[in-house]
Amino acid sequence: MDMKEVTIFSPATVANVSCAFDIMGFAVEKAGDRMVFRKISEKGIRIKMKNYRELPSEPEQNVAGVVALAIIEKIKPDFGILIEIEKGILPGSGMGSSGASAGGAAFGINQLLGEPFEKDELVQFAMLGEALASGVKHADNVAPNLFGGFTLVRSTWPLDVVPLTSPETLSVSLIHPLIEVKTKNARNILKKSLLMKDAITQWGNVAGLVTGLLTNDFGLISRSMHDGIVEPVRAMLIPMFADLKQAALDAGALGCSISGSGPSVFALSENLSVAEKVTQAMRDVYTGLDVPFETFTSGIGKQGCRVVDENYEK
Ligand code: HSE
Repeated sequence: MDMKEVTIFSPATVANVSCAFDIMGFAVEKAGDRMVFRKISEKGIRIKMKNYRELPSEPEQNVAGVVALAIIEKIKPDFGILIEIEKGILPGSGMGSSGASAGGAAFGINQLLGEPFEKDELVQFAMLGEALASGVKHADNVAPNLFGGFTLVRSTWPLDVVPLTSPETLSVSLIHPLIEVKTKNARNILKKSLLMKDAITQWGNVAGLVTGLLTNDFGLISRSMHDGIVEPVRAMLIPMFADLKQAALDAGALGCSISGSGPSVFALSENLSVAEKVTQAMRDVYTGLDVPFETFTSGIGKQGCRVVDENYEK
């Protein structure tokens, strides 16, 4: 029997994980988008935004649409596909909103087509959506969105994604100030060159973070979560960033930094109960400020995109 419709959950992701700019990310268990993919008789791709209707629905200008077009260009199915998108992650939040649309499109269409592509290939298609959104084919959101857990993008060309294990209880707190930061702008303000001494410190921390995750060493994870290159520049885009970070660390977080290109700020904790305290401490910093915000406390999303419902032709 052929599948005629599939509904998926496409998770939010935290890219960069402090020191690992553009090369590391992880999926968030409890935040994400819902997407429905339906076969239609008219060939081509149609997009229906169920919320955020201000986002373009022309496939060529839509993050999910460009991914979908690239896939059907390759497979040439004898049917069209309608994609309904219900965003749970606000665009411009730094929680991998474009990555969720792009990764979700690749995953959902692959399901509808009978899974002709491997995950690495889906990441490559999804990177086209990131290129449309930010001008750069970065994979540090779409890789964890599709693989789940933590992923290291050792190289984007040729693509080399390395899924990383992480401690079972590791949990995340996120605060999202409801202001929009466009990834493109947050990239434009970064320095174009580095001092060797700063690079050495940074790659020491990246190696420490990877090792800490793989060996369940919370102390090493904590010592390694320092970013001396990107965070100091982008911190100015986020109201009260230094206070948020201090409050998270004081409440017991292992580390705290900017989620992706911001404005969301994330903290990692040893377990969910510490993460809940950390989230509360971050909320306390924003309470009384003139900046609306939302928060999330979650485990790491072990699974990336996943099917939540499917329908078959009779
Ligand atoms: N690595 C990218 C950046 C992620 O920080 O610009 C964007 O979500």
